[in-house]
Amino acid sequence: MKLIVILNNKGGVGKTTSAVNLAYCISLLKKKVLLVDLDSAASASIHLGFDKTKKKFSTICDFIIDKNKSLKNYTQKYSENLDVIPSERLLSDFYQEVANDEDDKQLLQRNYFNSEYDFIFFDSPPNMGNLVFNSLSISDYVLIPAQVQFSAISGLYITLELVDKVRRYFNSRLKVLGLFATYFDRRIKLSEEIFKQLKEQFGDQLFDSTISINSKLIEAYNNEKTVVEYFPGAKGSLDYMNLAKEVLMRIN
Ligand SMILES: Nc1ncnc2c1ncn2[C@@H]1O[C@H](COP(=O)(O)OP(=O)(O)OP(=O)(O)O)[C@@H](O)[C@H]1O
Ligand SMILES: [Mg+2]
Repeated sequence: MKLIVILNNKGGVGKTTSAVNLAYCISLLKKKVLLVDLDSAASASIHLGFDKTKKKFSTICDFIIDKNKSLKNYTQKYSENLDVIPSERLLSDFYQEVANDEDDKQLLQRNYFNSEYDFIFFDSPPNMGNLVFNSLSISDYVLIPAQVQFSAISGLYITLELVDKVRRYFNSRLKVLGLFATYFDRRIKLSEEIFKQLKEQFGDQLFDSTISINSKLIEAYNNEKTVVEYFPGAKGSLDYMNLAKEVLMRIN
């Protein structure tokens, strides 16, 4: 069982799109996957059709409050090999309340997650709240979506520094699995240039697989499906399948 946090302190870089589509692609490669939504915006949950404003189901809030932490009561089945613990808008206020009541504030512990899963992905919000810190302190890897934009590069160092701090003081197991380029646009020369810079600055940490700009990713989100289900032949589908294979190769 490997726990992986999708992390980047910058907003809108493709964390959720990657968490959802990568988790699904890995599940297609015969791995049992759980996606845990740690964002009170609940975008990953809504992406997979778990919209708390439309139907009733247990969320990460219920999981946190349950003293027995019986995981199977809180996971929702999305597809054959992919389960989800959805989030809800209430999460940010809720977490502060509960966290204040707990002595150790360690509301997520590694032993709450059982080894029925090969991979557990955490989708994180763009701000470093307690819950994100908590997920980093119990995980094996961090996976960082890097938007192909000059202004986004400095933010990557901040994210890496944060991971380094957690590793040094709280979780020596934590490693950066890698960074991967998102919003890559081969038609634009600047995109190639920025990718080259990313390669120079991050070396082997940068995945060869890239995620192109692809409107089908947005359409799939609007239809509450993963891109591979909605448009199997789309560039976004091929990109996330390639990334999934490269992620598995790195972990093995
Ligand atoms: N490769 C892509 N091509 C086109 N649109 C994309 C791509 N990746 C993500 N998007 C779109 O960009 C928007 C932001 O993406 P996403 O929600 O994945 O980012 P995020 O990092 O999770 O944002 P936040 O920090 O707010 O949680 C969404 O509307 C998404 O559909
Ligand atoms: Mg998001």
